[in-house]
Amino acid sequence: MPKLGVNVDHVATLRQARRGSLPSPAWAAREAQAAGASSIVCHLREDRRHIQDSDLATIRLAVRLPLNLEMAAHPEIVRIACRLKPEQATLVPERRRELTTEGGLNLRQGGRRLSDAVRRLSDAGIRVSLFIDPSFDSVRRSADLGVPMVELHTGRYAEVAAGAARRRELEKLKEVVRLGRKEGLIVAAGHGLDYTNTRPVAAIPEMEELNIGFSIVVRAIEVGFRRAVKEMVRLAR
Ligand code: PXP
Repeated sequence: MPKLGVNVDHVATLRQARRGSLPSPAWAAREAQAAGASSIVCHLREDRRHIQDSDLATIRLAVRLPLNLEMAAHPEIVRIACRLKPEQATLVPERRRELTTEGGLNLRQGGRRLSDAVRRLSDAGIRVSLFIDPSFDSVRRSADLGVPMVELHTGRYAEVAAGAARRRELEKLKEVVRLGRKEGLIVAAGHGLDYTNTRPVAAIPEMEELNIGFSIVVRAIEVGFRRAVKEMVRLAR
């Protein structure tokens, strides 16, 4: 059974809507820890649209779980990561206008910046993972870069209609995971996984870790909204 990394970015998204202090990603990290998560994931984006620099320290203090910092191979963010020393850094592509991480890293063009980031983070004692599309080519290129771990982008698997197309994407994931293990890589997966599509990915024998954020925050609202309204109705009477 893979471990679950809980991504708390979208708790911060909600907080940033009012630029206040609630809801707190550090509180969410503590809740995730209490609920059995194996690690906490957050993405310090260059545009700081959700997680802020100060969140990194408060999340660090709030939990004893390993921190997996998602980040672009940008020199400023690499500097911050080397100072913070999360247990893991997952390098992801970042486009300013995207709503979320739309695809895996482009390892054909990642070039110098990517290999520099891998080297600097590794030298700081941080385990480096690359967020890649689930393709044989991406796995081989990741192994060539010398990283110990990859995370496969499950966006396409999650997006296609359930049925034959989804099963095809799942088979592709399985084959790519197998190749990753053969290449000596630890293999994780994430993006778009929810309460309806996670099980088959979790059942892939060699899968080490799943990283999930958005669907958990949505579910938290769905299961808690009625209670929250009831409490306010009582106060408003
Ligand atoms: N893994 C990586 C590398 C990601 O960039 C994201 C999205 O921030 C996730 C996992 C989680 O995706 P979701 O929020 O769709 O569960």
